[in-house]
Amino acid sequence: MEGNKHIERDGHSATKIFDNRSLEIDYRTLIPILKTGMIVLDVGCGTGAISKDIANIIGNRGRVIGIDNTEKFIESGKQTYKYVENLELIHVDLFEFETGEKFDLIVSARVLQWLSNPKDALKRMKSLLKPNGQISILDYNHEKLEWDPKPPQSMKSFYKTFLKWRKDEGMNNKIADDLSDMMQEVGFHSIEIINSNEVYERIREDFSSKVGIWSKVAGSMQMVEEGYLDNALRLRAISEYDNWVENDAISMTMKLNEVRGKN
Ligand SMILES: C[S@@+](CC[C@H](N)C(=O)[O-])C[C@H]1O[C@@H](n2cnc3c(N)ncnc32)[C@H](O)[C@@H]1O
Repeated sequence: MEGNKHIERDGHSATKIFDNRSLEIDYRTLIPILKTGMIVLDVGCGTGAISKDIANIIGNRGRVIGIDNTEKFIESGKQTYKYVENLELIHVDLFEFETGEKFDLIVSARVLQWLSNPKDALKRMKSLLKPNGQISILDYNHEKLEWDPKPPQSMKSFYKTFLKWRKDEGMNNKIADDLSDMMQEVGFHSIEIINSNEVYERIREDFSSKVGIWSKVAGSMQMVEEGYLDNALRLRAISEYDNWVENDAISMTMKLNEVRGKN
């Protein structure tokens, strides 16, 4: 559907990436604004790994509803997190989600980067908030990704093509830096920008899996099928990058902002 292109990885590997995420590592700046008893909506929750951490913090007087329009993520999360009593996961698109409920807090991590209509998504979220409710969007500026040292040329070419493919699909590669203007235009107030960069250094246990994200992205045939990329270059990018991650990589920094606003 419109506004929901995303690179198709195989379902299993994407499910695993999402299940490995946690509030503490992957949305850490949100923690200070979580309060016991809140009713929270997590838009584009993936499998619900971060949603269940939010549910644990707000406690049983509060509730988290996680929505996602990819059925296999929701089905997987319903199994994995079925023990979390105050978490409900629903397979539905943001633009089709019907509820009589209004939320204290709406969060959405790494979702608007995939939409060609992010401002409409913000408007939709605003309509689901209580008066004075809060929104928190966590997202990337893909144009500012830093690798140290530089990765192999094959991966640099792959990444450049990836950004072009995204742009042609109407996605904003630097949405992290545009969110505050968008929120203002949609009518939010008290907007705050919080730096949420992710710095991956070799001492981290999850170094290879986090820095290796780009060979997983290159694992998809989608850009080859759409005529953006030569398959031989894609395969070379994967093997040379994997080798670089194992032997040469010192660090990778992904640039993200958490941007908050009030209704
Ligand atoms: C990169 S994942 C992020 C998952 C999770 N929030 C996290 O940070 O780990 C983006 C998710 O947004 C979902 N998504 C994209 N557009 C959506 C829409 N219009 N309505 C609901 N979910 C959407 C995708 O299915 C995907 O699971």
